[in-house]
Amino acid sequence: MPYTVPKLTDFSPAALDSAVRELLSALEQESAAVGSESDWKAYRDRWIARKNGVLTQLNDLWLKAAPGPNKKDVGQRVNELKAKITEVVESKRGGGLTRSVASSLEFSASSAFSVSESVVPRLDVTLPGFRRRLGTEHPVIKTMNEMIGVFRNLGYSVEEGPEIETDFYNFEALNFPPNHPARDTQDTLFLAGQESKPLRDRLLLRTHTSPVQIHTMEKMKPPVRVVCPGKVHRNDALDATHSPIFHQIEGLAVDTNITFCDLKGTLDHAMKAMFGSSVKTRFYPSFFPFTEPSADVQISCIFCDGKGVRDGAPCRNCKASGWIELLGCGMVDPNVYGFVDYDVSKYSGFAFGMGVERIAILKYGVDDIQLFFNGDVRFLEQFG
Ligand code: PHE
Repeated sequence: MPYTVPKLTDFSPAALDSAVRELLSALEQESAAVGSESDWKAYRDRWIARKNGVLTQLNDLWLKAAPGPNKKDVGQRVNELKAKITEVVESKRGGGLTRSVASSLEFSASSAFSVSESVVPRLDVTLPGFRRRLGTEHPVIKTMNEMIGVFRNLGYSVEEGPEIETDFYNFEALNFPPNHPARDTQDTLFLAGQESKPLRDRLLLRTHTSPVQIHTMEKMKPPVRVVCPGKVHRNDALDATHSPIFHQIEGLAVDTNITFCDLKGTLDHAMKAMFGSSVKTRFYPSFFPFTEPSADVQISCIFCDGKGVRDGAPCRNCKASGWIELLGCGMVDPNVYGFVDYDVSKYSGFAFGMGVERIAILKYGVDDIQLFFNGDVRFLEQFG
């Protein structure tokens, strides 16, 4: 007489135990009779077919019919049965008796175990485990670490600073006086409700990593050689090349007799280390309040080898100029030393700041900065 799922009227634990026991013994008996592929298909349909398999009937006849107070208990048992039935049916796939069904049969045949224990899936330590997928370094962090590595090799150490800064560190000590128009270039996000504080104490999300220069010089005397990686914020609208959150790496070297030549040599070396030894650099006059003189650094276009033409057409990456602008730099303005108590007559130094996403975009040929922040594994996996 083949097994049929009984309609339950008694939902007490004892009645459920006995119904579960009966079902499992039927499952095992029928499983023992499976000897071929076609046997297995019939067996599978009978137990787990969506239309009228035993599993479906369990839902209708046991779970849906259970009165409120018994629902939880019945639900747990039905779930355990589901796991057990699928495991046993799967293990018979192809018609052969595999090790796992053999062990599960032997397990529930042993009367020493109670029914509820027999429905707990058995741990078979000889089965291969599940391989957990390992994450990889995010491309922004990877680029940051590569750049830090280049400077570590030159003897630089790493310093970090807070992302929420005071006006003093983000602007004033960097020689941006209150109301100076250079502040407008930074699209700053201020924390609300601080009107009662003096301007220099008001909090904001740092717009660049340059405040870490000040923190570093406050706590260290020259010689100073540091790189300062970190997240920065600006009130920029999202598009393919802008994001309100991005990352920068700041560099600062202060010592006796540091000149613009040292700055040029250092950055030329760093760009070659990042983009290949054939890359050239060019320093273009610029302005930053905390450096004097200041420069923008351009590298020869890595897409057209600085020719401005690629495949017979104007190179789109460098707008046919052969150069790509990459970072800002300059000699530390003597006014800045005044804020950190360094002897201006004794020391000189240089600073630079670069956008990490911008470097990653060029290095990896990414066409939209948003890809770094969307968390789409199909994109991120490519950097593994
Ligand atoms: N902090 C500047 C910016 O974000 C970059 C910079 C850093 C320029 C250091 C000069 C020296 O635009």
